[in-house]
Amino acid sequence: MNLTLKIWRQKDANDKGQMVDYNVTDISEHMSFLEMMDVLNEQLINTGDEPVAFDHDCREGICGMCSMYINGEAHGPDRNVTTCQLHMRMFKDGDTITIEPFRATAFPVIKDLVVDRTSFERIQQAGGFISVNTSGNTQDGNAIPIPKKDADDAMDAATCIGCGACVASCKNSSAMLFVGAKVSQYALLPQGRVEATERVQNMVAQMDLEGFGNCTNTGACEIECPKGISLENIARMNTEFMKASLKG
Ligand code: SF4
Ligand code: FES
Repeated sequence: MNLTLKIWRQKDANDKGQMVDYNVTDISEHMSFLEMMDVLNEQLINTGDEPVAFDHDCREGICGMCSMYINGEAHGPDRNVTTCQLHMRMFKDGDTITIEPFRATAFPVIKDLVVDRTSFERIQQAGGFISVNTSGNTQDGNAIPIPKKDADDAMDAATCIGCGACVASCKNSSAMLFVGAKVSQYALLPQGRVEATERVQNMVAQMDLEGFGNCTNTGACEIECPKGISLENIARMNTEFMKASLKG
């Protein structure tokens, strides 16, 4: 396949940035999207140009690093995959592909396609954990019976990889699908109930502090989420927040 790429280039956080056109040739349909980007970068290095900066780590849909907005969709046109799992067979010979960073006030661009998502880490640090008693008298988690539905829902919520596609897809740059998933994965389990009140209050407060917008039930986040995180998690977080507020 021969392709035209329109890529966002931005030297650093202060640069205005612009779209730049590139051509790549002989791209195999079996390549992943990131392998296609590797081909472009080799080409740029060989001609003495600056390669395109983009984030990646695992390249197997686990780390959530590969944040790219491809043809107007977070992680591109396929469903339930990250950019690193997106294959070039989703495109046709002669296509023009637009590639931009995830855009949100709380995800400032660092360089080219790389954004700063430490706002997510600060939300996690505000409450996305369970304090464990390490006195030696810790109860074995497996000894606590948990309804199958709760275990399944908690596991589904825990598959969130913190990629930020939900934020990038939302017209309000809301982080509620991410925070809803993190709150839910603990709220559904007895081990997580102990700190449930402070957790939801602290995580929501940090989310607001970071400048994420509100949810207006558009649902784009659920559609673009590579892990199929359900909107039910936002509803559960809202219920948890209400319960916590009533407790004071
Ligand atoms: S909810 Fe989905 S889109 Fe949002 S951070 Fe988690 S995995 Fe990514
Ligand atoms: S590089 Fe890890 S999820 Fe894509």
